[in-house]
Amino acid sequence: MGVLDFFNLAGKVGVVTGAARGLGREIALALAQTGASLVLADLADTGATTREIEKTGSPCVSFRTDISDESSVRDLANQAFSRFKKIDILVNNAGISQLSYMPTEDAPVEEWDRVIAVNLRGTFLCCRYFGKQMIEQGGGSIVNVSTTAGITGVPRAPAYCASKAGVILLTKSLALEWAKYHVRVNAIAPHYLETELTTGLRASEKAYTGLVRQIPMRRFGKTSELLGSILLLCSEASSYITGSVLVVDGGYLAQ
Ligand SMILES: NC(=O)c1ccc[n+]([C@@H]2O[C@H](COP(=O)([O-])OP(=O)(O)OC[C@H]3O[C@@H](n4cnc5c(N)ncnc54)[C@H](O)[C@@H]3O)[C@@H](O)[C@H]2O)c1
Repeated sequence: MGVLDFFNLAGKVGVVTGAARGLGREIALALAQTGASLVLADLADTGATTREIEKTGSPCVSFRTDISDESSVRDLANQAFSRFKKIDILVNNAGISQLSYMPTEDAPVEEWDRVIAVNLRGTFLCCRYFGKQMIEQGGGSIVNVSTTAGITGVPRAPAYCASKAGVILLTKSLALEWAKYHVRVNAIAPHYLETELTTGLRASEKAYTGLVRQIPMRRFGKTSELLGSILLLCSEASSYITGSVLVVDGGYLAQ
């Protein structure tokens, strides 16, 4: 077996949340191109992603799912399992940012609840239900999408930062608990990426220039630049890695 075979996902089944667009769509396509069958989950229509995956020849099913809702995640896990009879990979990518970045002392409490419900509770629920299946089948790999803002603070973003910091400690806690079941749990922490989530930031020359000045590589990342890390953590190439956080940030946190 050559070293590149460790990255081959032929015969594997992967679940990607938030697969309708942005990073999730790219991740789903990358897993399909590497041979995995796909389960796509999103609140939004995943039709565009499904059509791209069909071109790879990999089987793909799609579910309208709200990851913050327990019954929705339970249904997703049950239906995914009954379709493929196993789940090898879970990428918890679905996430939201804050609607407003106002002074926290004036911020609506509902904003906190909304962001924590999707980013932290949603990631927990998916780990909980797919993790149980992975334990029963004898192993699997979970990759949680956090952010540099889950490692270092950002003013006026308490809900986003706290939710994504929570994802990192959720990752480590589950890694410790599930290592004995051969279920690996890791996280990636990207800095700013060129997706719809950052359209507003990139539209403002002043905001964009200010942010880019703080990044040693002087640019936002492209979604394609995350895919190597994702494939590493999903595949046998990382068979001895669990509980780790892989930072993909153009050097931002090295400062
Ligand atoms: N874009 C960035 O700069 C950046 C940087 C660091 C981390 N991240 C993280 O990467 C992940 C993907 O970001 P993106 O930029 O592709 O975002 P995006 O907004 O382009 O896509 C997010 C997807 O998640 C789905 N989603 C939202 N709430 C959901 C829910 N409750 N249930 C199911 N699906 C839901 C949306 O419908 C959408 O398809 C997020 O977790 C985000 O926090 C993004």
